[in-house]
Amino acid sequence: MKTYIHHVPVVFVLCLFLLPNIIARDFTDEEYLTLPRLFHLDDYHSCLSQKDGLYCLAKFQLTPTQSPHIAYDLIKEYSDDVRHFNRTVIHRGYCVSARCPDTAGVNASLRIQKCANLRARPHHLKATLQTLHYCHSHNDTVTDKPPDLLQSIFLYIVYAILCLNILGTMYDFVWNDKKKNVLIMAWSVRANWQRLTVSYESKDPRLSNLAILQGCR
Ligand SMILES: *[C@@H]1O[C@H](CO)[C@@H](O)[C@H](O)[C@H]1NC(C)=O
Ligand SMILES: *[C@@H]1O[C@H](CO)[C@@H](O)[C@H](O)[C@H]1NC(C)=O
Ligand SMILES: *[C@@H]1O[C@H](CO)[C@@H](O)[C@H](O)[C@H]1NC(C)=O
Repeated sequence: MKTYIHHVPVVFVLCLFLLPNIIARDFTDEEYLTLPRLFHLDDYHSCLSQKDGLYCLAKFQLTPTQSPHIAYDLIKEYSDDVRHFNRTVIHRGYCVSARCPDTAGVNASLRIQKCANLRARPHHLKATLQTLHYCHSHNDTVTDKPPDLLQSIFLYIVYAILCLNILGTMYDFVWNDKKKNVLIMAWSVRANWQRLTVSYESKDPRLSNLAILQGCR
């Protein structure tokens, strides 16, 4: 008896997974293919390479414009299954300028809305804009953005290191005095190169064990 107790949760979880299978019906491939595509993306770069290019990415809700609407009923029935995507909602990335050039003149969100509706109308559907993720125009891609704060800081640090290298190397070459400032010498390219390529031998056996690290250098 004790061993069976362990299996009770497993059987319970299995039942949970099998339950929807018993309730929900299976859809044929033909039915599946009549559903509107969940995603469609036009080519982004070729769209915005045009002078008047406008590319929008948005989420639309589909509703029927006639009743009864057999195809829409199927979409709804399919979507009601918790294991399926909600297919009354579609995701579209449209090159609005190329697909719907007639819509020019109004603002971008209105243009993508009209554009999606033009595609949905022959199927007796209405596409309502739910979320507009973005609209990019040709102008957005050509304007050179100034580097942001983190990029600037990184550049300044690189410049600072380069300047210190140049100053340190000049000091190394110009200052012929025997006693050189170690802090400035740390930046000298010549001194660093010599330290990097010098062959290293140690009398201390403990340090000899680390010889492989010297080899890597
Ligand atoms: C599908 O999404 C629409 C819009 O968000 C919502 O009204 C509808 O209830 C959803 N259907 C299902 C089955 O979740
Ligand atoms: C676009 O225009 C419509 C109607 O003219 C307006 O309701 C909407 O707020 C505008 N959208 C933006 C993002 O300006
Ligand atoms: C892009 O910029 C040009 C000139 O700066 C302007 O005439 C045009 O209206 C802009 N296009 C868009 C879509 O904003």
